[in-house]
Amino acid sequence: MNSLSLDISNAAVSESQLAAMTVEADESLGKVLQATGAGSDFLGWVRLPSETLKSDLVDRICDTASRLRSSCDTVVCIGIGGSYLGAKAVIEALKDTFTPTKPEILFAGQNIGEDYLAELTDYLAGKRFGIIVISKSGTTTEPAIAFRILKAMLEEKVGKAEAARLIVAVTDASRGALRSLATDEGYDTFVIDDNVGGRFSVLSPVGLLPIAVAGFDIRALLSGAADMQTACANPGSPAQLYAKTRNALYRDGKKIEILVNYHPKLHFFGEWWKQLYGESEGKDHKGIFPAAVDNSTDLHSMGQWIQDGERIIFETVISVEEQHRTVVIPADSDNLDGLNYIAGKRVDHVNKMAELGTRLAHIDGGVPNMLVSVDSLNEYSLGSLIYFFEMACGISGYLLGVNPFNQPGVEDYKRNMFALLAKPGYEEQTAAIRARLGE
Ligand code: PA5
Repeated sequence: MNSLSLDISNAAVSESQLAAMTVEADESLGKVLQATGAGSDFLGWVRLPSETLKSDLVDRICDTASRLRSSCDTVVCIGIGGSYLGAKAVIEALKDTFTPTKPEILFAGQNIGEDYLAELTDYLAGKRFGIIVISKSGTTTEPAIAFRILKAMLEEKVGKAEAARLIVAVTDASRGALRSLATDEGYDTFVIDDNVGGRFSVLSPVGLLPIAVAGFDIRALLSGAADMQTACANPGSPAQLYAKTRNALYRDGKKIEILVNYHPKLHFFGEWWKQLYGESEGKDHKGIFPAAVDNSTDLHSMGQWIQDGERIIFETVISVEEQHRTVVIPADSDNLDGLNYIAGKRVDHVNKMAELGTRLAHIDGGVPNMLVSVDSLNEYSLGSLIYFFEMACGISGYLLGVNPFNQPGVEDYKRNMFALLAKPGYEEQTAAIRARLGE
């Protein structure tokens, strides 16, 4: 059963504001569930948890994962954006902070850092490594560069045939350079369905395969998501309430939402959430700007702005009730650091007081607050959180009046980059950009 709960009692949104949004929020939910809104071709994620659990896909993923687990010390996941952030978020949330998973999971193709790639190839030189290359379009430049380099390295190290056994591609069923390459080279492949967009794909093989290779329970992850899917199937769900509340705040002039965690393992969950909401809602010159902070760390950097800067911000706190481990603050007979007043208390007690104290200060300081609580960090609760935020994002995008499932704005940088790199087919743009730069 779902342990996730949402508290909006400190969100500074009135019952009447929410009641006034009931009809449009129900229509927005209907657009997601019945696929009647803009971008309705990209709603495959809505039933993904329940349908995947019923199919043989989980067994196939686990079989491939166990082959990579037994053959590799390190598996490099190559992908960017939605083809990387979900797996990274879940693995970071579940793994021991200081001990790598077995095999360890590294990421590449999520940047074009030359030093990053050089240091990665140095690191991999003595390792038994494999590659999961993930790209829905199969044509994205960043992962394509990383894959070309690491594929060549692996082939040189173990030979072409063995490399082909250690490479798995996750891509479109028939389109794109990666699909053609995978077919030619005979790689094991998984399909990203046409109707599942990148940032909604963590519960497809895009996220499930790396998570399974890292040794985590993808059935439990899907179960948490599937139970949340059931909970979100009717009006009045927490996801719909979250979507309504954040839009009510936006209409009141709150233009920035920060996702706040007090659990260091959730840093990349914030990164995943930023992409989900940023790419889904930031369009047509509208949209709440999604930011994320890791507290209490960021209370010592961003805390001042949040408490006292321009009042255009609200926060959504993810609170994790139980920790897996216990660390008690010891007594000290000298008490030179003055900490004996909390001796005998758990570190998590202090963290929870920091969380509560900060929330109260923010409420007093004009930062509306929503609280999303889960009992502990595990596969099931992460599945619930993922689906909760995905469903809320779809509803919220429709409330905002945008198509939540496209991303036209991300093409502009690519057009300029390809023009600057003189990519074949971009001759006109290359001439225009060179003229603009006075070359
Ligand atoms: O959400 C999205 O659609 C994007 O972030 C993509 O996931 C990202 O651009 C990577 O694309 P692809 O998987 O086609 O390489």
